[in-house]
Amino acid sequence: MDSMKGLKRTHDCYSLTETALGQEVVLMGWVLRRRDHGGLIFIDLRDRKGITQVVFAPELDRKSHQKAHSLRSEYVIAVKGKIRRRPKGMENPKIKTGMIELACQELRILNTSVTPEFSLDEEREVSEGLRLRYRYLDLRRPHMVRNIVLRHRVCQAMRSYLNDHDFLEIETPMLTRSTPEGARDYLVPSRVNPGCFYALPQSPQLYKQILMVSGLDRYYQIVRCFRDEDLRADRQPEFTQLDIEMSFVEEDDVMGLVEGLMSFIFKEVLGYKVETPFRVLTYQEAIDRFGTDRPDVRFGLELRDISDIVRGCRLKLFNRVVSASGVVKSINAKGMGELSRKDLDDLTRFAMDLGAKGLAWVKIKRDGSWQSPIAKFFSDAERSAIAQQVDATPGDILFFGADQRTTVCKVLGELRLELARRAGLIPTEGFSFIWVTDFPLVEYDRDEGRFVALHHPFTSPKEEDLGLLSTDPASVRSRAYDLVLNGNEVGGGSIRIHQSSIQEAVFNTLSFSREEAQDKFGFLLEALAHGAPPHGGIAFGLDRLVMIMAGRDTIRDVIAFPKTQKAQCLMTHAPAKVNMAQLAELYLRPGWKT
Ligand code: AMO
Ligand code: AMP
Repeated sequence: MDSMKGLKRTHDCYSLTETALGQEVVLMGWVLRRRDHGGLIFIDLRDRKGITQVVFAPELDRKSHQKAHSLRSEYVIAVKGKIRRRPKGMENPKIKTGMIELACQELRILNTSVTPEFSLDEEREVSEGLRLRYRYLDLRRPHMVRNIVLRHRVCQAMRSYLNDHDFLEIETPMLTRSTPEGARDYLVPSRVNPGCFYALPQSPQLYKQILMVSGLDRYYQIVRCFRDEDLRADRQPEFTQLDIEMSFVEEDDVMGLVEGLMSFIFKEVLGYKVETPFRVLTYQEAIDRFGTDRPDVRFGLELRDISDIVRGCRLKLFNRVVSASGVVKSINAKGMGELSRKDLDDLTRFAMDLGAKGLAWVKIKRDGSWQSPIAKFFSDAERSAIAQQVDATPGDILFFGADQRTTVCKVLGELRLELARRAGLIPTEGFSFIWVTDFPLVEYDRDEGRFVALHHPFTSPKEEDLGLLSTDPASVRSRAYDLVLNGNEVGGGSIRIHQSSIQEAVFNTLSFSREEAQDKFGFLLEALAHGAPPHGGIAFGLDRLVMIMAGRDTIRDVIAFPKTQKAQCLMTHAPAKVNMAQLAELYLRPGWKT
């Protein structure tokens, strides 16, 4: 092995072009490929920036040429030599350095490498288990480097915009008390306080509100949050938020700031012009039309309610549901009338896996007549009323969901996305932001037998709905807003409660006893009583935002060291067992839940 002593890297592997012809340079990096061509040896030398071709020949330097025979994939080397034009026919116009090569006069092998567990060629598919186990190799791959660089640039753009708008970046503790955001807490035992636990923050929610009570006015932080919940492609047990809070603001102030921020980020990082102002949908509209509170509004296939039309129809399935205060909704899959029997069986299974009892359908034939197992149950008048409601024309196929409202919306909302995928309706480019507003403040949780906050318990009710808090909590609307990008929830926030009496009333609606509220959030109530200004804010899922900007399907691709669906790190093997002495020190006894 050679030392790098006396050699200084002069360039990266991306920058050298024909303007450097004849220049003597030193490059350092990893061997991506080696090709022997008779007397000549070529390697592609890679670093985080790019690839430069290096050529070894006896007439350039006998010793280096000799040594170059021993080079293998991922060896770490330093090369010194002159930049020259590649011979005719050997140029590669696809890469920036494709016209030149480095003619090596000195080769130093700085380190060897075992054979990598997978090829680092960008194109190859590699199992994710392998990628996570050898994450350092995975992160050498150009598309992963691009994601990491993109993330860095997004963070810089966020900081730059917010700094220019008079925000302060302030850190808040990681060892704290529970901040309820709807997930389970990660707990950390305290050695010096036997039997007591810190909770890792699910978000800095309470700290940022207290910073407003402090008068710090405009706060932001790019911060890690921890939530012990079931993981999915867009959920990690630890993830990053851009967290923002502002004083003396109402909804439009926060939303306006966010529109400016997003426009700036997309322009700076992607050169993309975001359309502002963002469209606004109320929660109710979003659910009614798209079946979800994070609708992808880039294509149609909207849900239409036909409950009133089928109330008296002969199909028991439908009329029973309507009389039991359920709903019947329909999606018109425009022009998809050619779906086969097998497609329909697949879609029915898809719907049933989501909790539907079935998936009724009707094909609209060329003459406008209905082809469907349920056609015979509808009168001509009902058929034409339905056709009109869903805008049916020949070649369409209508799907129906009949059940309680939440089930129908969930099933048809997902079905809508599945139909759009099948019909290729989902654009692969472009970014469409929408706001969803006017969420209910609370929803009834059957398992817990009480109302729970739809966002978090510190969200302000709408002033005009305050009176309903004690009489009809389910119909109280909140001052919350979610930001949805291409059908993903990328941010959420609200105007907060800043008066302790209202906060207490909301705790009461959530069935916290006075003692419980005092025990868990006494410090907040106390702070609110010390001159809390009106305030509000928002937090963005940085991982999700970057995932969408990078055009990836999972946030794992934009996180340097993500965890698996089972919340494990395959590289370090965290979480791991600890020894008895460590447990004893923390006043814990080993035990397993069975
Ligand atoms: P919320 O819980 O909506 O709001 O979180 C804000 C945003 O964080 C992202 N997110 C996640 N990303 C990856 N993995 C997860 N497990 C995960 N959970 C949430 C989402 C979400 O929109 N304190 C409030 C914000 C506020 O009211 O200001 C909060 O945390 O993109
Ligand atoms: P059945 O009478 O059970 O054979 O159902 C007739 C058609 O209605 C079939 O295509 C079922 O998949 C469908 N279906 C059954 N239950 C529901 C429901 N709750 N909502 C929508 N379609 C349903």
